[in-house]
Amino acid sequence: MSAPLPKAYKNGYQDFYGRDFLVTPDVLIPRPETEQIIDAILNLAGKPYLPGVKPAPRVLPENPVILDVGTGSGCIAITIKKELPEAEVYATDISEKALKIAQKNAAKHGAPISFIISHLCKNVKTTPDIIVANLPYVDENWDWLDKEALSHEPFVALYAEDHGLKLIKELIDTVNSKYLILEADPCQHDEIVSYARSKYELIETRGFILVFRQPKNLPGP
Ligand SMILES: C[S@@+](CC[C@H](N)C(=O)[O-])C[C@H]1O[C@@H](n2cnc3c(N)ncnc32)[C@H](O)[C@@H]1O
Repeated sequence: MSAPLPKAYKNGYQDFYGRDFLVTPDVLIPRPETEQIIDAILNLAGKPYLPGVKPAPRVLPENPVILDVGTGSGCIAITIKKELPEAEVYATDISEKALKIAQKNAAKHGAPISFIISHLCKNVKTTPDIIVANLPYVDENWDWLDKEALSHEPFVALYAEDHGLKLIKELIDTVNSKYLILEADPCQHDEIVSYARSKYELIETRGFILVFRQPKNLPGP
């Protein structure tokens, strides 16, 4: 028996960081754990993101360039632009169908974003200050995985080879931004931190989110 269609696909919308995003089975349903990417960026921008939490000093330039790799519904890129309007925001996806949904969401929320069809960052010509990526990281062989529950979401949005880390590792190999923010299952964090070590130092972990910075002695953008 196949799993019932998720409520978000039935309704056509999912909340993310207090805004409604159009979703269809062409895009991953935005998850609450991904919202911490937005908090991490606001923290780097010295902006308050939680009542009662004092923001850190701003470390980003006045008009930071931010790239969201694997944008799906566009929820991360669009939320960044709404919360940090001074940012110049780019977003890529390998799926043309996903990019169409992301463009609709950007129009709905009045968020000017440059959308680019691309494998990872291959077609991006600018050097961002921050790259954020919630790439597919699910390992098909995890014994706790409920594949049935995920069966309505796109395979390309969920699964990756090399124990789920193929695309994350390739991204680390190819980028040169000052900050890199990744989402992955906490069971994968140690391996990612160790893989990134020659290029990036870990500055923060927030649930599923890892925040990296280039060490000062490496060339930045
Ligand atoms: C886990 S979903 C994340 C979607 C959205 N960013 C979010 O947080 O809800 C991963 C996204 O990466 C895209 N993707 C998969 N392989 C890719 C690749 N090689 N290059 C760029 N995007 C890719 C998928 O199409 C999907 O939209």
